[in-house]
Amino acid sequence: MDVVIAGGHGQIALRLSRLLAARGDRVRGLIRNPDHADDLREAGAEPVVLDLESATVDEVAGALAGADAVVFAAGAGPGSGAARKDTVDRAASVLAADAAERAGVRDFLQISAMGAGERTDPSRGEVWAAYVKAKGEAEDDLRARDALDWLVLRPGRLTDDPGTGLVRLEEPPIGHDAVTRDDVAAVLVALLDEPRVRRRTLDLLNGGTPVADAVADLCGTA
Ligand SMILES: NC(=O)c1ccc[n+]([C@@H]2O[C@H](COP(=O)([O-])OP(=O)(O)OC[C@H]3O[C@@H](n4cnc5c(N)ncnc54)[C@H](OP(=O)(O)O)[C@@H]3O)[C@@H](O)[C@H]2O)c1
Repeated sequence: MDVVIAGGHGQIALRLSRLLAARGDRVRGLIRNPDHADDLREAGAEPVVLDLESATVDEVAGALAGADAVVFAAGAGPGSGAARKDTVDRAASVLAADAAERAGVRDFLQISAMGAGERTDPSRGEVWAAYVKAKGEAEDDLRARDALDWLVLRPGRLTDDPGTGLVRLEEPPIGHDAVTRDDVAAVLVALLDEPRVRRRTLDLLNGGTPVADAVADLCGTA
């Protein structure tokens, strides 16, 4: 498999790169900071320097040439303001999806977040509201696309604990809890391998079901 990860230096992205590269897949990671290139190479991915807040659709499409799938793993991250929630969490996803269409790469997996697009409690502040809005609009953009076999994956609160291999992967709502970044990466690999699970929005938490079974269960419930 030939996979391009948008936001290739992200914590999930690097874990996903290691898993895919270890089994012989080609992985390219789109990064904005050239200083991150060696970290990608160490993870088995080819770095492609491309800032998703300033690149053109043609530039991104060029970076996707020949890929089987795109994983959107970018995010403005903690410490960023409302403006970058819009330029990264929404607009960079839209750009990557436009580019995937232009490059003829149908398979598009987006890492979103639980509760995306929902009304937020004002007490959580305007940056949180902007984040939830941006994630929701990025999801809606994908849902409107016929040219992509999209999948929205909404992890709960991410942790750096070691992966468990055990998850809950279901249509929302499934409540709120945590999931390890290791397990998110493992679920992404399993979803990349299972093209029958597309055009769906899935919440993800740690749980009691082995990753392979959780994905297989979804094939019977489309
Ligand atoms: N934290 C949580 O509890 C939680 C829960 C659910 C979902 N999520 C979402 O899950 C996703 C992945 O999480 P994570 O922990 O792996 O994220 P992360 O480590 O913050 O990685 C995000 C990556 O996006 C990159 N990025 C930002 N702007 C970019 C741009 N203009 N061009 C190219 N790359 C850019 C960042 O690169 P730089 O280093 O250059 O900034 C970073 O490497 C994020 O979208 C996050 O919002 C998070």
